[in-house]
Amino acid sequence: MDRFVKNFIVASIVYLAVASVIGILMIMNTNMLTLKFVHSHFMLIGWVSMMIYGVGYHILPRFSGKLIKSKMIGEIQFWLANIGLIGMVIFYTLQQSAPENAVYRSLTGLSGVLQLLSSILFFYNMLATLLPKADED
Ligand code: HEM
Repeated sequence: MDRFVKNFIVASIVYLAVASVIGILMIMNTNMLTLKFVHSHFMLIGWVSMMIYGVGYHILPRFSGKLIKSKMIGEIQFWLANIGLIGMVIFYTLQQSAPENAVYRSLTGLSGVLQLLSSILFFYNMLATLLPKADED
């Protein structure tokens, strides 16, 4: 298993654990609902998307008898997805307590752009793996 594949899967399980604890904290104490953005994004980008990235990178090329187009892109994508996610939840949460703060808003947006870039890399790497021209098969 490639290192970035294992990293995606391990990270996804860690996000599931952290997001589940936050979910229970929100049930126990409604003041913790300020962490709803953290919980939902750790669940959906951290747990769900990263598990799909890891499993997808591992099995989709094998199912179609191809080699992954670029392991380097997979590595870069892993770091962009994680830096983007952590940045989003930190700066969005800070922004909730200082809604007028332009620095927090900009850093939240920048983190979101990193997250988008990560998705675009996955999109490119998967399609470039699965849909090569017929004469390259
Ligand atoms: C240990 C398991 C979980 C617990 C204890 C939990 C708990 C919670 C709580 C208390 C809320 C806030 C509800 C409210 O607005 O009052 C919430 C929201 C949310 N949860 Fe979870 N959750 C769990 C698992 C999951 C999973 C597996 C996902 C998705 C993969 C998920 C996605 C979301 C989303 C998207 C929201 C935001 C919903 C909204 O804003 O309307 N949660 N969760």
